[in-house]
Amino acid sequence: MYNKGLIVSGLVIFVLLVTFPIWFNGLDAGPLPKPELPPNGTKECVAPAAEMRAKHMQLLNEWRDDVIRNSNREKIVVAGVEYGKGLQLACMECHSNKEKFCDSCHDYAAVQPTCWECHITPTEAAKKEAQ
Ligand code: HEC
Ligand code: HEC
Ligand code: HEC
Repeated sequence: MYNKGLIVSGLVIFVLLVTFPIWFNGLDAGPLPKPELPPNGTKECVAPAAEMRAKHMQLLNEWRDDVIRNSNREKIVVAGVEYGKGLQLACMECHSNKEKFCDSCHDYAAVQPTCWECHITPTEAAKKEAQ
């Protein structure tokens, strides 16, 4: 016949093992990233921050299609200042520290956008200029 005690303790051990990844770190995925605000002191982004957090990847794709497929290089205006539509021309003008801004979130979320295989970061651009 069934041994009730053995089944129950077996179940308890099973549940503990299966949920190990959840309780092991005390439900902690590490400190949340704190992306650095633009060093140039600008206070506004091309869209409200919440929208940027959720949708910046889509916006970048739209911009790329506008520029490369539809030859639409219309400038964008943020707080009265004009920027070219582009990753380097706009985003990195304000978010000039990729490492402390873009990477802080992407490292946390384990996202690795391939953009930088071709596009150049402000740090790399500065190095090239110094050569
Ligand atoms: C004119 C300067 C400027 C430009 C250009 C700009 N940003 Fe921003 N961005 C900011 C500022 C300032 C904030 C913080 C706004 C706030 O907290 O209300 C911000 C916030 C953000 C956030 C949210 C950050 C957070 O802490 O949650 C993301 C993501 C972002 N920007 C990505 C981009 C991308 C991608 C581009 C290019 C498509 C871009 N930004 C272009 C100035 C800029
Ligand atoms: C507030 C946090 C945060 C900041 C700041 C941030 N990102 Fe992201 N980014 C994310 C997250 C999270 C994802 C993954 C979203 C997903 O997979 O749905 C992502 C995805 C992307 C993607 C799509 C990657 C892919 O493989 O599909 C691109 C491109 C991108 N980010 C560019 C940038 C650039 C450029 C900057 C800096 C100007 C930046 N991001 C700043 C959080 C951030
Ligand atoms: C294989 C190389 C390559 C990769 C990878 C790449 N790009 Fe580009 N991208 C280009 C080239 C070349 C242009 C054209 C520049 C021009 O004509 O102004 C361009 C232009 C753009 C533009 C419009 C204008 C500009 O100069 O910024 C945007 C926006 C853009 N790319 C975003 C992205 C994003 C976001 C990623 C990553 C998800 C990415 N690109 C990955 C090569 C690349």
